[in-house]
Amino acid sequence: MAGEGGDGEERPEQQMTTISCHFFGEPEKPPAFSISIIENMKEDYGLFVWPCSIILAEYVWQQRLRFSGVSVVELGAGTCLPGLVAAKLGSDVTLTDDANRLEVLDNMRRVCELNKLKCKILGLTWGVWDEPIFSLNPKIILGADVLYDSSAFDDLFATVTFLLQSSPGSAFITSYHNRSGHHLIEFLMEKWGLKCVKLLDGFSFLPSYKASKLSGNIQLAEIVLDHQKETSSSNAI
Ligand SMILES: C[S@@+](CC[C@H](N)C(=O)[O-])C[C@H]1O[C@@H](n2cnc3c(N)ncnc32)[C@H](O)[C@@H]1O
Repeated sequence: MAGEGGDGEERPEQQMTTISCHFFGEPEKPPAFSISIIENMKEDYGLFVWPCSIILAEYVWQQRLRFSGVSVVELGAGTCLPGLVAAKLGSDVTLTDDANRLEVLDNMRRVCELNKLKCKILGLTWGVWDEPIFSLNPKIILGADVLYDSSAFDDLFATVTFLLQSSPGSAFITSYHNRSGHHLIEFLMEKWGLKCVKLLDGFSFLPSYKASKLSGNIQLAEIVLDHQKETSSSNAI
């Protein structure tokens, strides 16, 4: 995408813009589809495809039977690869990110157009109760690499818990860098009355050609409301 200028002059932000292509399919078979993502290396956070996002997107693909025809919200979506895979699989997807990060929300619109996918795009800042959040009622909430700043955990989990309560039987599926064993996720589950029903090593289901390009200790957790208020530790698989 660099060099798109028209007047022959590239602005610095254009020079830093690339398009990455992400493939999804069964082993030993041609890809079922690909998703193209516009990334900007100059910006941090929301304009870059983070490893957690590649892992969560692959999980969505591998769990594809769950995603047909359901309502999905991606929180802190950034370049929104997992949400776009869900849309490709037939989910009704709302992509969200910090309402103040207009460049991230604009990039989401461009990425949806590029992939010819119709998703709703919404500024949703964690812990802020703007009117649209009350009608989302998602069956599945996605969040890749949204557990990185401990000062935002309470706002994030307030939003997640509200969305889980608004839609019976819903689940929050998140991939995150595991920097503290299971303690972080156990602490948050206990505090918010949630339970972890699945906990996976993010590399355990990733095709080797994707895993070889990533590093780190990334986990994927599926989190639901804990109606009995049990601790997560006894439920984690
Ligand atoms: C590390 S990036 C991950 C982006 C993307 N999910 C990925 O994995 O490639 C964290 C994302 O969370 C968003 N974010 C951070 N604080 C937020 C807040 N308080 N409310 C909503 N989104 C927030 C950022 O804008 C950014 O897109």
